[in-house]
Amino acid sequence: MGKQLFSPGEKNKALDRVDGRLKVTGAAKYSAEYQIPGLTYGVLVTSTITKGRIKNIETKAAERAPGVLAVISHVNSIKVPGFADNEHPTEPPTGGRPLRAFHNDRVYFNGQPVAIVVANSFERATYAASLVKLQYDKEEHTTDFEANTGKAVLPAQAKKNTDNPLNDYNRGEADAYKTAAVKIEAEYVQPAEMHNPMELQSIIALWEAGDKLTIYDKVQGTKPTQNAFAKEWKIPLENVKVISKFVGGAFGNGLHNWPHESAAIIAAKQVKRPVKVVITREQMFTMVGYRPRTWQKIGIGATPDGKLVGITHEAIGQTSSYEEFTESTLQQTRMMYAAPNVSTRYRILPLDVSTPIWMRGPGEATGAFALESAVDELAHALHLDPIEFRLKNYTETDPEKNLPWSTKFLKECFTTGAEKIGWSKRKMEPGTVKAGEWLVGYGMGVGTFGAHRGTAAVRAKLSADGNLLMQCAVTDIGPGTGTAMVQVAATALGMAPEKITFDLGNSDYPMAGNQGGSSTVNTVGSAVQAACKALKQKLKDLATKKEAAFGTADADNIIIKDGKLSLTDNSSVSIAISDLFKQNNLPEIEVTEESKPGEEANKYSKYSFSIHFAEVHVHPKTGQIRVKKVVTCADAGTIISWKTAANQMIGGVTGGIGMALTEDAVMDHRYGRYVTKDLADYHVPVHADVPPIDVWFVNKPDYIVDPIGTKGLGEIAIIGVAPAIANAIFNATGKRIREVPITPDKIII
Ligand code: MOS
Repeated sequence: MGKQLFSPGEKNKALDRVDGRLKVTGAAKYSAEYQIPGLTYGVLVTSTITKGRIKNIETKAAERAPGVLAVISHVNSIKVPGFADNEHPTEPPTGGRPLRAFHNDRVYFNGQPVAIVVANSFERATYAASLVKLQYDKEEHTTDFEANTGKAVLPAQAKKNTDNPLNDYNRGEADAYKTAAVKIEAEYVQPAEMHNPMELQSIIALWEAGDKLTIYDKVQGTKPTQNAFAKEWKIPLENVKVISKFVGGAFGNGLHNWPHESAAIIAAKQVKRPVKVVITREQMFTMVGYRPRTWQKIGIGATPDGKLVGITHEAIGQTSSYEEFTESTLQQTRMMYAAPNVSTRYRILPLDVSTPIWMRGPGEATGAFALESAVDELAHALHLDPIEFRLKNYTETDPEKNLPWSTKFLKECFTTGAEKIGWSKRKMEPGTVKAGEWLVGYGMGVGTFGAHRGTAAVRAKLSADGNLLMQCAVTDIGPGTGTAMVQVAATALGMAPEKITFDLGNSDYPMAGNQGGSSTVNTVGSAVQAACKALKQKLKDLATKKEAAFGTADADNIIIKDGKLSLTDNSSVSIAISDLFKQNNLPEIEVTEESKPGEEANKYSKYSFSIHFAEVHVHPKTGQIRVKKVVTCADAGTIISWKTAANQMIGGVTGGIGMALTEDAVMDHRYGRYVTKDLADYHVPVHADVPPIDVWFVNKPDYIVDPIGTKGLGEIAIIGVAPAIANAIFNATGKRIREVPITPDKIII
């Protein structure tokens, strides 16, 4: 992999992943791997039509097959109490009401679960599922996005609330770009992109009692999932326990609950045994969310000397017929540049498909492809370097909210990134730099995402042997949350990281929301720091009884080192933790602290920023595209955990390469069915597609976002990557491709 660039001195301080050994040795336990006595296996039967009703379901052969415990469909499913709510939703239905498994005879999309077969082995369940035969009353389906864009609507949540940011937006004069001396207008297409983490979506559902449910589930939040299923079953919150200790990648699809989860829980109740459901790779393409197909149009204009006059950005995103999905596709356009006039219009198009869901850089990654491509195109029309053009329209305050930025160090990213990619080798005229037969191009794209912070609580227990155990309900979908949290605690306590454990992924632990929206380190890290502070205060109070010097000491100067409580500014004063515990007759010291954002932060506009630079080689005869190098620079506040943060950036860029060059969910509209449903037909970038990626962080704290100075980086890692590559392809070839993925056929035609 690529060289990772750190600020001087920081690299050596970087922790290895605290769970790295568990993961590479296979000791880490994922949701499907729990050995539960009496476990049974559920396999889903899915619809082969796209819209209509189930006329008949023939289950006898399956029921008679060896090892089968039950075949459950809408015909015999127990009634899920929560499913009856909102039976006749106002049209279009608003978000947050997932498909209700086996609730009625309706088919809403192709590949919808219509039955679950439960057997005493996975193989037997799979075989029996093949014996279930269905007859349908088929109805005409509508899946073709392009043919139906005229039916796109303002989301219901925007209609209901005029303050909702999904409403139309105008700053200054509407569509003012049309009056500009130099302007372009263009349309952009982002196809559906399917969630393909390594770990398949999986769940084990276990009813401990009639109203007491435990699930081992692949999710991005144990508390939100606990909440969802408590509501679905109308049982007390504390009767639902969600375990999600390790997650083998999730880029947003674990932020929602899906029909396979409800199916497993229904089945477990019905067969009175624990039921495991692991969906197939093919089913990953049909029922657990995806980045929605999105059409966009941008009009953008500037004065001849390169001052933006106006931007109009429209988008239509796909959603399902039974649930409204929206995302903030147009947000970056509203706040990134100092344009006096900006108009945005967002619509959604309900089709007979399954519901999309957030996928890394949700909305913004799609929007940035259009915006940053258009900015590049306009810069070219103005004969300006794309960096110079962006700097001419740089804004030191948020032009949308009219607020100061909490922090913004994007200029540092321009300078450093340009230097590291070798921007000086770039020629304005496309096709003029060559490497043998290959055309060489350089491009860049800017990304941004809100620096969000929520509420979280952390329990910290210090034991007499000087080990610290922290607990929080948060999950880790791969960024290395445990590692970062250990680092926060080690810094806060002056303690050796080897003595600290961060235990997560259990809804019984103190509060944390979803791991999503790049907010975990901001949110949970702040709670870790608060817990450490409280712990120090307790220790200080105990120590003062014995050693007066602790009483007057500043809490910041108290550290836990080598099993002793010490003062950084007076090495002669220290007390062994074990003595402290003995003297006070305490087996351990425990604190739980909650942390949440204050009012002060609302006076600022809070965003993380990134710039991605790409060098691309294109073969003019074959249209083959090789990304040769990427430099990715991020203003994400303080970097807590350097290795895992750099890993995140590399992962995001890799996703961006997929978005730019390979990922494309293709549907056959005759059947309303995706034809790309495995990793051979749907190509995610592999090592051969991914060049050296240099990561550079500004690493300047933002204490307005949170007390540890972080801003979040999961999303900005991908937002802006696809346009950087598209712009580099233009610079190499003179071809402006506005529909991703940019495949060779689009280059050679
Ligand atoms: Mo992310 S799309 O918030 O998992």
